[in-house]
Amino acid sequence: MCGIVAYIGNNNCKNILINGLKRLEYRGYDSAGIGILAKKDAISGKKIKSNDKVNKNKYEIKVVKQAGKIKELEKLLENFDIDGTVGIGHTRWATHGEPNQVNAHPHLDCTGKIAVVHNGIIENYAELKEELIKKGHKFVSNTDTEILSHLLEEYLKNEADGKLLIAMQRLLRKIRGSGAIVALSAEHPDELVAGRIASPLIVGISRDGNFFASDMPAVLEHTHNFVVINDYESVRITKEKVEIYDFEGILINREPFKVNWTLKSAEKAGYEDFMLKEMFEQPYGIRETMRGRLTNGTFNFEEINLSNEQIKNLRKIQIIACGTSLHAALTGKLVIEKWANIPVEVDISSEYRYRDPIVNDNFLFIAITQSGETIDTLAAIREAKRKGAKVIAVTNVVGSTIARESDSVVYTHAGPEIGVCATKTFTAQIIVMYMIGLYLARVKGSIKSDEYSQIIEEIEIIPNKVQQILNSADKLKKIADETYKHTCFLFLGRIYGFPMALEGALKLKEISYIHAEGYAAGEMKHGPIALTDSKTVVVGVIPQDFVYEKMLSNLQEVKARNAKIFSIITEGDNNTKKYSDYVFEIPKTSEELYGILTVVPLQLYAYYIAKNLDRNVDQPRNLAKSVTVE
Ligand code: G6P
Repeated sequence: MCGIVAYIGNNNCKNILINGLKRLEYRGYDSAGIGILAKKDAISGKKIKSNDKVNKNKYEIKVVKQAGKIKELEKLLENFDIDGTVGIGHTRWATHGEPNQVNAHPHLDCTGKIAVVHNGIIENYAELKEELIKKGHKFVSNTDTEILSHLLEEYLKNEADGKLLIAMQRLLRKIRGSGAIVALSAEHPDELVAGRIASPLIVGISRDGNFFASDMPAVLEHTHNFVVINDYESVRITKEKVEIYDFEGILINREPFKVNWTLKSAEKAGYEDFMLKEMFEQPYGIRETMRGRLTNGTFNFEEINLSNEQIKNLRKIQIIACGTSLHAALTGKLVIEKWANIPVEVDISSEYRYRDPIVNDNFLFIAITQSGETIDTLAAIREAKRKGAKVIAVTNVVGSTIARESDSVVYTHAGPEIGVCATKTFTAQIIVMYMIGLYLARVKGSIKSDEYSQIIEEIEIIPNKVQQILNSADKLKKIADETYKHTCFLFLGRIYGFPMALEGALKLKEISYIHAEGYAAGEMKHGPIALTDSKTVVVGVIPQDFVYEKMLSNLQEVKARNAKIFSIITEGDNNTKKYSDYVFEIPKTSEELYGILTVVPLQLYAYYIAKNLDRNVDQPRNLAKSVTVE
């Protein structure tokens, strides 16, 4: 949600900002803008109509912004001639005020000398705005962000001794809520300053200048060296320097880290969409996530950081997550309880954080989040830690806030996921759940060794089986071509298939905007069966496991109500074929592992339906990759 890119260096920054914003499109947005510091005498070109403020100094800030996608902004930019080597850019996901041009960022102060971009929500903005209005400030937008440039203006005038960094530090103390904030000032042309409260912000360091960004892909083409900014820290970057200050204003020394993500891994590489590319990268993502942790049947899970004694004494595991990650959590519950014989509770992060949860001794807390930034998951972690829990994060993003705030981290190594809906990060999370379950079971001695060996053998070849499914993607396309006009989809599953039924329905509604529901098949008679008629497609997740026959009865029940049946079956299951209008066959595996194999065809099916409807699968409407506001 909202993306920030800012640059100060030797190069012209317009394209750096625009390209950076394009790489942040996946976060979800509905307007975009840039602000560039331009030398007044160097300003040439055509008349600038909007947001063009001239001041008496050598530099002025040119702001160009537009509602809609970045290509709209690019079209508008054709009317302007802006050169400059210092600038800020933003993609806005509207929270306060509709997504129009005026509300887009950057926002200027009264003098036009300060421009601000912001990702987050200022909770006390109304009262601050009122105070500022009393002091004579005039506002043009309906956003909470606009107060930030005006506050900086006030502080620069009165309390900050003319220093932009001090003004930012003062501002961080004044606002409540969340924010990654970057400010540009015409009177401070040699620096950019930023501050952070609970929204992601990183600094990219390169020989040709330095960057602020919401996420690494924004600047991967310029640098692989990053520093992460923490809550209540303020930062000043110049062409050559990065200075980070803590809440008290004390300079902090923080070494940069290097990421091995390549620019190629954040590009489409010939695929039509990121989502398609990312689904096809799943065998790789699963292998990478297993690499070094599971070798020839033995686990190395040092990162979990629990002694064998602690594992043996575990009385309860709590898993929290949102969205797709929640479905990985539900799978985690099933396999950990089955193999390691430890009770597992799963909560939605946004519920957990407010429900006054109980944290006991011998309790383990696992948070699953692909982005590592989901605000509700972060708040739930803080709540659990406050109550004394030890927190393990499962995330795909090195250096993310949740990774840093947890006691230990198990990274999924799926590579950057740009498509808004999670696919390869999900299957990587599932493999982590399998590995954690087996690892705990092995240490506890709660699993028989032949069963353990057989499951491990199967896990090691799961990537090949996922590949086999991907190789048959055209079959799913065909089924999607024949069913995409239906307006109601019901996904049914039981036990290991149930979280995947939820995930299949979520994928379909996210990217096709068709009404879809996921249900435990046994619950179907308590409501959803009322929906089924000839306009309904029932997608049955029915692998050959111990609830197979129960599932089959459920499918027969909906068949009797004229629904179209599409079944995900195990290869050779001729029985289910008899009751199905369409089937897709997955390879055989151990029954606990069917989840990961059944979800891949569901992802592809949702994708092809959405493509038939001409949807933007990478950036579905109203959704964001990283949900950084409540
Ligand atoms: C957003 C994304 C989903 C994701 C959910 C949870 O809604 O669009 O793909 O599953 O957030 O995100 P997390 O980063 O915590 O896994």
